Formats: sequence, structure tokens, C-alpha cells
Amino acid sequence: MPKIKIYTKDDLPGMRKAGALASATLNYIEEFVRVGVSTEELDMLCHQYILSHSATPAPLNYRGFPKSICTSVNNVVCHGIPGAYKLKSGDIINIDVTVILDGYYGDTSKTFLVGECSKLAETLVRVTREALLRGIAAVKPFGYFSDIGNAIEDFVEGHGFSVVRDYCGHGIGKVFHDSPNIVHYRVSEKQAQILPGMFFTIEPMLNVGSHKTKLLKDGWTATTVDKSLSAQFEHTLAVLESGIEVLTE
Ligand code: MF3
Ligand code: CO
Ligand code: CO
Repeated sequence: MPKIKIYTKDDLPGMRKAGALASATLNYIEEFVRVGVSTEELDMLCHQYILSHSATPAPLNYRGFPKSICTSVNNVVCHGIPGAYKLKSGDIINIDVTVILDGYYGDTSKTFLVGECSKLAETLVRVTREALLRGIAAVKPFGYFSDIGNAIEDFVEGHGFSVVRDYCGHGIGKVFHDSPNIVHYRVSEKQAQILPGMFFTIEPMLNVGSHKTKLLKDGWTATTVDKSLSAQFEHTLAVLESGIEVLTE
């Protein structure tokens, strides 16, 4: 099991600021998520907003990623690249924002409904938001990372949606992606212990159909294999002695 970094109390203010800015960026972009807007316009707006708050968009040039946010529409599971595509009524779009502020990372995402959406799309988005909250509620200092996926899959199964297995939550802090990998599905073994000083994300992706994904030729865009809809929500969390703190709400 790879070692999981324990941060000190001195790192909390910086993580709070980064989390708050990531969250503020999602709030800022919400009013622009409308029929007719292109995903590259949303990218440009977030890019400017983040720079104007003395921060850097973490995705830009991260392992060659070409844009400042991820925009994942309909059957795109995650890591969609902003481009010329214009949102249509009935689309769902996940916007994933990660900022670097004073060396600290804040990572959060949300799925928006565009115009008039199907009942199915509305239900998927609602259940995915709730799945994140169930995952967060399962986190306790001195509990186990496996508690998270167990809680999420128990909840999601009852709604008939599937939990993506190919992409995970992750440790975060002064780096974007750190150990551990935090799976959102049920596992039989007890995983590593959750300890004060850890920072990590929970970011469940739920599909209407199969949990399976495939990677497009651009090397980034992950879609459902069966073209079914997919939604995602993400928060960054801090573990304290007394409980947990959501840094991105
Ligand atoms: N923000 C994503 C996450 O939640 C990672 C995006 S990596 C990128 O971990 F390069 F695609 F931006
Ligand atoms: Co993340
Ligand atoms: Co993210």
C-alpha cells in the first residue's frame, strides 16, 4: 500500500482558500451554462476567473491536457476537452474545476442540466449528487477508505445506475493526484485507514447503463461504452481530529 501523506494544521488555511476558489469558480460559471454556449467559451471564462484570483487552472498542460477545465457532456464520463460544441436543450454537462492557489490544489465538479432535460437525466443527476453526499457521510477520522465506495454503491444500486470503476477519487494537497486511489464501488477488503491530516477527493461517476468506459483517440475523453448518460459530482475534503471538512462547498 503506497504511503498517504499527512499534512499539518499549517496547511489547512491554504487548502481552505484553494477549495473556496474552486467552488467559487463553479458558482461563477453556472449562469453561463445555457443553450448555445460552447464548451470552449465556458473554459475561457473559468480560465480568466481563476487567473483574476491569482490562481492557476491545474488541468492546463497537466500531462498535456490542452484546456483549463474539463467539460463532460452526456455520455462523456470525465476529462472531456472544451471545444466548439455548443450546448443543446436536454444536455447534461459536468464542469470540473481544479485550481492551484499558493501551491495548494482545490478540486470540485458539478453536473448541470441544460434547458429541458428528460426525467431520466434529472434522476441520474440527482442520484449522483446524493451519491457524493453519501460517500462524504461515510468518512470518519480513523474509519477506512473502503467505507466510501461501500456507502456509495449500496445507495446507487437501489436506483439501478452503475458506478464507474475506471476512474477514482485521489489524495490531493500540494499535488494534483496523490495516493490513495479512492474507489466509489463496493470492495470486500478493508482499505487504508482515514487519518487526520489527510486531504482527498470523492468524485463518483454514475452511468445509466454499463459501468464500462472507453477512451477516445484524443487520449483524454472517457465515454460510456454503451453511449448511456453519465453524471459526476466532486468535492475535496480535509480530515481533522474532530471530523471532516468539505473544502469545496
Ligand atoms: N479534475 C480531474 C479530477 O477530478 C482531473 C482532471 S485531469 C485533466 O481528478 F488533465 F483532465 F484535467
Ligand atoms: Co479529482
Ligand atoms: Co476534478
